[in-house]
Amino acid sequence: MAVEVRRQVEFDGSRAEARPKFDAVLATLRTTRRDTKWLNTIQAVCYNFADQYLQFNQFIIMKPSDAISANQAAWDEAAPRFKERMHAFLLERFKQQGFSTLQGARLHVIQSLKIKGKAVAQLCCNNGRELLSIKNLGAGTCVGFDISKSLIEQGRELAEAGGIDCELVATDIHHIPDRYDGKFDVVLVTAGSLRWMPNLNSFVGVAMRLLKPGGRLFINEMHPMLDAFAKDEKGGVKWERPYFHTDPIVSHQGIAYMGVESFEAQPHVWYHHKLSDVVSSVLDHNMELRLLDELRENISGSYDYLVPSGTRPPFSYVLVARKKVSVRRSVRSKPPRNGNPGNPEGSEGPTK
Ligand SMILES: C[S@@+](CC[C@H](N)C(=O)[O-])C[C@H]1O[C@@H](n2cnc3c(N)ncnc32)[C@H](O)[C@@H]1O
Repeated sequence: MAVEVRRQVEFDGSRAEARPKFDAVLATLRTTRRDTKWLNTIQAVCYNFADQYLQFNQFIIMKPSDAISANQAAWDEAAPRFKERMHAFLLERFKQQGFSTLQGARLHVIQSLKIKGKAVAQLCCNNGRELLSIKNLGAGTCVGFDISKSLIEQGRELAEAGGIDCELVATDIHHIPDRYDGKFDVVLVTAGSLRWMPNLNSFVGVAMRLLKPGGRLFINEMHPMLDAFAKDEKGGVKWERPYFHTDPIVSHQGIAYMGVESFEAQPHVWYHHKLSDVVSSVLDHNMELRLLDELRENISGSYDYLVPSGTRPPFSYVLVARKKVSVRRSVRSKPPRNGNPGNPEGSEGPTK
C-alpha cells in the first residue's frame, strides 16, 4: 500500500531564508519607486505572507527526498543536545560489562527471538545504545544504520568505551549498500523510527532486503493513536488530528525528547502511519505475521502527559514478521492479545 505524498508547495527553506528573498525583490522595487510609504507597506505585507506561509506549515508539503534531507539536518541539529544530556552517563554505563538499556516488551521479545549469536541490524539506530545492549546480550554481528552522522559518531564512542564490536553506519536507510543484503537474522525497529519514513512499503522493503530467508523483522513502536493527541495550553490533553490523517506533518519545533528542552528549529517532516498501514506493508511483502500486540506500556517520555489524563490509550505495540523461506507458504496471522506480548515463535519454536 503506497503512501501517496502530495507535493502542494515546493519546500522553500525557513523564515530566515524567505525574508531575504523578499528583500531582494523590494530592493529592485526601491530603484524604480521613490514612494517609501508604499514600499514599507509592500514590505510588511510580504513579511507577513512569508511568516504565514511558513507558519501554516500543514499546507507545506515537501517531496520525500527534500523531507529526508530536512530531517537529516534536524537530527544533526538535535544530536549535540542529546549528547549534552546523556552521553557522559551512557559512556560510564557502557564501560560496565553487559550493560543494557533494554526493558519491558522490547527486552521480552528480543529474548524470545533467541538472539544469541544471531546477526542483528537496527534501522534508525540513533546513538546505537539499543544495538550495543543487544550485542551485550550475546548477539553475533550487529550493524546499526542511522542518517545522522553526529549520532552515529556518539554511538561509535559508546562502542569504543565498552569495547563492544558493533558496526554503526551513517546512511539514509533507503541507501544502505547492497553488501548488507540477506545478512541478518533479525532487523530491529524501535520507538520513533517509522514516523520518519515517507513510504512504509519502501521501509519494509529495506528490512526484507537485509533479512536472511526465515529472518525476523521486529518492530516495537509508539502506537500511532498517540499522534491524534497533543498537550493543551494547561498541560491537559486535546485532539490534535484525526487518526486517519494522511498528509505529512511539518514541524518547526526542534527534535526534543529524553529530557532535551524544546527549541525553535529548521523544519522537519514526519508521517503518521496508522497501525493497519504498518501491518499491510508487512503483508504486502509476503511476510508471515508472527506477533502483533497493542500494549499499555509507555515507551516514550513524549507522551507522559497522557498518563494522568485517564485517556488510557494504547501506548505502544510489538510486531514480529518472518521473511518466508518459500514464497508459496501462506500468510498466518495471530490475533492481538492484551497485557504482555506473546511469543513470536509460537509453539513451533524457531523455524529457519
Ligand atoms: C527517535 S530515533 C529512534 C531510535 C531509537 N528508538 C531511539 O530513541 O534512540 C529516530 C532516528 O531515526 C533516524 N532517521 C530518521 N530518518 C532516517 C532515515 N531516512 N534513514 C536513517 N535514519 C533515519 C534519526 O536520525 C534518529 O536517530
